[in-house]
Amino acid sequence: MAIVYLEKEKLFWIDTKHTSYVLGIVDEEQFVSHVYYGKKIRRQDISYLTRTGEKPYVPSKNNRERSAFLDTLPMEYAGNGLGDYRESSISVRTKDGHEGVAVAFEAYDIKKGKPRLKGLPATFCSEEDMQGSGGEETCMTLTLHCRDNVLGLSIDLLYSAFEEEDVITRSVIVRNTGENAVFLTKVFSASLDLDNQDFEMVTLHGSWGRERQVECREIGYGKQSVGSFRGESSHQEHPFVALKEKHAGEDAGDVYAMHFIYSGNFLAQAERTQHNMIRLTMGIHPQNFCWKLNPAEEFVAPEAVLTYSSAGMGQITRNLHDMYRNHLIRGEYRDKKRPVLINNWEATYFNFNTEKLLEIAKSASELGIEMLVMDDGWFGHRNDDNSSLGDWQVNEEKITGGLKHLVDEVNNLGMKFGIWFEPEMVSPDSKLYRDHPEWALRIPGREPALSRNQYALDFGRGDVREYVYGCMARILRSANIEYVKWDMNRQLSDLGSAFYSPECQGEISHRYVLGLYEVQERLTREFPHLLLENCSGGGARFDPGMLYYSPQIWCSDDTDAIERLKIQEGTAMIYPLSTIGAHVSDCPNHTVGRNTPFETRGIVALSGTFGYELDVTKLSEEERMMIPGQIKKYHRYHDLIRRGDYYRIASYSSNHEYDCYIVVSKDKREALMTFVQVLGMPNCRSRRICLKGLNPEYNYQIEGRDETYGGDALMSCGILIENQPGDFKGQIFYLLAQ
Ligand code: DGJ
Repeated sequence: MAIVYLEKEKLFWIDTKHTSYVLGIVDEEQFVSHVYYGKKIRRQDISYLTRTGEKPYVPSKNNRERSAFLDTLPMEYAGNGLGDYRESSISVRTKDGHEGVAVAFEAYDIKKGKPRLKGLPATFCSEEDMQGSGGEETCMTLTLHCRDNVLGLSIDLLYSAFEEEDVITRSVIVRNTGENAVFLTKVFSASLDLDNQDFEMVTLHGSWGRERQVECREIGYGKQSVGSFRGESSHQEHPFVALKEKHAGEDAGDVYAMHFIYSGNFLAQAERTQHNMIRLTMGIHPQNFCWKLNPAEEFVAPEAVLTYSSAGMGQITRNLHDMYRNHLIRGEYRDKKRPVLINNWEATYFNFNTEKLLEIAKSASELGIEMLVMDDGWFGHRNDDNSSLGDWQVNEEKITGGLKHLVDEVNNLGMKFGIWFEPEMVSPDSKLYRDHPEWALRIPGREPALSRNQYALDFGRGDVREYVYGCMARILRSANIEYVKWDMNRQLSDLGSAFYSPECQGEISHRYVLGLYEVQERLTREFPHLLLENCSGGGARFDPGMLYYSPQIWCSDDTDAIERLKIQEGTAMIYPLSTIGAHVSDCPNHTVGRNTPFETRGIVALSGTFGYELDVTKLSEEERMMIPGQIKKYHRYHDLIRRGDYYRIASYSSNHEYDCYIVVSKDKREALMTFVQVLGMPNCRSRRICLKGLNPEYNYQIEGRDETYGGDALMSCGILIENQPGDFKGQIFYLLAQ
C-alpha cells in the first residue's frame, strides 16, 4: 500500500518508489502538520519533526503562546489571520467582513485510484480509469477531511501517490456547509514547509520569443515568487518552482519541485521564515481573485504536482516527463508519431490564397511532408491582424472554391489538412463585436485596453462559448480537417463581465479558464481523432493544463535554431519532448535575423514535434533536397525521442559555447545524442563529452563509427567530438547496444 495511516503515531505515510511524504495530526485541535518529504524511509515514528515537544508547545499545553505555535508549526495547509504570519493557503471573507479561517482535521479516507477534479484538467491513474474501467493500480488517494466549524466550511485536502513516477499530486476542495455565502479570496493548491537545506529557487522566466529560460537564485529571508495575473500561464513567468540544494546539479543533490496543472493566473512562492524554514506555495494568484461560495456549493482548486529527487534536477525532469506522458496527456496521438506538418505562417503570413497553399502543399508532398496547416487569415476579411476575429466564416475571396475544395485537393496530394483558430478573441472590426460588444471583457465606464488590436471574449459566459464552439464545429464538420492550432494572442485585462453580478466580478479570470477547458474538452470529445496543438503568441500557454487537451503545444514564435536551444532546454526541463512544437524555418530567421545551417535547424527541431514553417517553393534546391533526409530521421528516431529518458549533458545557456543532450530508450539499448557547437573556437582540440543514462554493462555501436564502446566508458571517459570549423554546427549520434 502506497498510503497508510499509522494510528498510534497519528501519521499519514505516503510512499512512492523512491520517496516518502509524511504528515501528522497534532494536538487536540487536530492541526495538520507537515512532517517529512524526501528520500524513501522505513515507516516509523518521526513525529518529533513537528517540534511540538519544544517550546512553546502545543496549545493544549500552553495556549498562552498560541500564536508562536501557529506561526512555527510546519503546516500542510495553513489557515489565515489567526496567528500564523507566514503565507496562508486559504483565505475567506464572511458576509460580515471577517477574514479568519482555520483548517482542522476531522476524518480521512484512503482509496485506490483518483477522483476527477470537476471542470479541471488533472492527472489520472490511466486513461481507462477515466472511463471507469480499471487502471486503479497505478495510484492511490488520501483525502483529509478538514473543517472550519465557525465558518461552516469543509476543506478536503487531496493527495494522490504515483508510485512509479515518484510524484504526489495535491488538490483542495472547499465546500460551504453553512447558511451564508462566503467569499474565497485565496485557495492555494499546495503548501510545503521544509527546513532550509541551503536551498536555491529554480524558476523559468521569459518573454515573447524567449520563453522558459532557466533561472536559479538564492532564497533570502522573506518572500520571493513568480506569478502571472495575465489570465494565462504566460511567456513571462511559469507555474513551476523547484528548491534545490545549493550544490545540487543535474545528476546529484536534493531537489523538490512543484508544478501547477492550470493555464491561468498563478503564484509560486518560496518564503524563508525567521526560523530558516521554507514555505513553498502554489496556487491561483490571489490578486483580483474573489469567489463567492454559496451554501452547498464547492470550489475545486487546480492540481499541483510535487516531485522530489535525491539525484539532482535531471531526475526531476524524468519524473515529470513520465508523469505527463503516462498520466496527463490523453487521446489518440499521445502514443503516436505526429504527422510531419508544414505551416504557412512564416511562409506567407496573411498573404495567401488557395492557389498559393496548393503550390506549397504540392511541393511539400513531393518531399515527404505529411500535413498542410493553414494559419491565421482564412476567415472574415482578415488580411492583417486588425480585423475579423470572431467571424469564423471562410473568406472565399482567398479560399477560392471553398474550404472543402482546398482540403480535398490537399488530401488528393496524400496530405492531411490542419487549420488555425483564435477562438477566445474578437476584433473591434468584426460582425461579432458589432452584434455583441457586451461579449468582450470590459469594465463599465472604461475603454478596454487593446492588444494586437483585439479584445478577449468573456469566456466564462455560456452563450459566448456556445457561439464559439458552434463556429468551430461547423468548420470542422465541413471538411476533412485533422488538426487544429488553437491560438491566443493577447493577455487578459479589463476584467469586467456584463453577465456576472457585481459580487462575482472577482471570479472572471478563473471562470475564463474553466470556460476554455470546457470548450477544449467538448472539442476533443466530438472530434476524438483531431490532433490539437495549443499555442499562445508562441508559448505563453505552455503548461500542464493545456497538455490535458492537446498532446503538443507551440513552443515559441522564435524558430531560430540557436535561440531554440535555450527555449527548448527550459521547456524540456519539465515537459516531454513529444509535447514541444518545433519547426524548421527560413533564414535569415524572421525573429533574430540569424543564418544557421539547414541541417542544424533540422536537428534542433527533431527534439520536438518536428515540422516546417517556410515557403518550400522558395528554398534553394540544396536545402529542398535535405528535407526528405530530415523526414527520414524523424521517422527513424521519433519513437525513441517520444518515449525515451532525457538527460541534459551540457547547456548552451550556461556555457555559451555548445549544447548537448541525450535521449535513451527505457531498455537502454538505443540512444540519440544531440550536440550543437554554437560557437566555433579557433585553434581548438576535439571536445570530450561524457554520455549519460546508458547501461554501463552494455557495449554500444555509434552509427558511422567503427569502434564499439562500453557503456561505462561512454559515461565515465566519454567520446571525442571533433571541433568543426564555423558556428552553429549540429550533429546527432545514434547509439545501439550490441
Ligand atoms: C501567433 C502564433 O504563435 C503564430 O505561430 C501564428 O499562428 C500567429 N499567432 C498568427 O496570428
